[in-house]
Amino acid sequence: MRKKIIAANWKMNMTQGESEAFITTFVREIGDFDAVEIVLVPPFTSIPKVSELLTQTQNIKLGAQNMYWERSGAFTGEISPAMLRELFVRYVVLGHSERRALFGETDEIINRKMLAAYEQVLRPILCIGETLPQRERGEVESVLRQQLHGSLAKVDAKELHETVIAYEPVWAIGTGKTASAAQAQEAHAFIRKTLGEISDKATAEKVRIQYGGSVKPDNARELLSQPDIDGALVGGASLDPRSFAQIVQAGAPNE
Ligand code: PGA
Repeated sequence: MRKKIIAANWKMNMTQGESEAFITTFVREIGDFDAVEIVLVPPFTSIPKVSELLTQTQNIKLGAQNMYWERSGAFTGEISPAMLRELFVRYVVLGHSERRALFGETDEIINRKMLAAYEQVLRPILCIGETLPQRERGEVESVLRQQLHGSLAKVDAKELHETVIAYEPVWAIGTGKTASAAQAQEAHAFIRKTLGEISDKATAEKVRIQYGGSVKPDNARELLSQPDIDGALVGGASLDPRSFAQIVQAGAPNE
């Protein structure tokens, strides 16, 4: 059984003060609920504060939204994997479509970051997904296949097992247009099949695949009940502690 993993991608939102207010309310809402793995992914400047606050909880983990692949040096504006580890960051989101589209990240760059993450025992949340024109041209499978092969080059089975894949159709991010549960399930099944080709079938069965793109309290349960959807990467709705708590609770098995 794959334990579901639900992550809050705050993007460029949430000052330290706002993060603190969020955590106070969120912890009150969810208590010690641990039927799904919960990850908060703040902007870098709020990570120290969130890290400190999370020492008082058992059931919430910490992630980062990006990092560079080098250990240290003359890379102005960048953050290293070791800097994240020092703050007890466990997950790092890599290859988000906003980073691909706005900051020029390619599969090759993402792959270098993936390999650096494993070296520092950080678990990547690798984002992949097609744009609307790509979907309309019938290219969903070829785009996903190419992103997976490119980003996962030289990744071994043990590392793949520690990786979370986030399927985020670009046309569904921040638009209010969610993929239907059937569309998402179809893409997730294809991703799992492709992971089996890249690695082996047994490893692919263990990898958790999140869905992301306008996940809200009212659509989370249906999406999360699909056989190959093992969690969610939530943007907009994760900025409200009550909405995010409802989404997390929708991931509980048999509810
Ligand atoms: P959204 O963002 O939930 O606001 O669509 C998801 C994401 O970009 O991870």
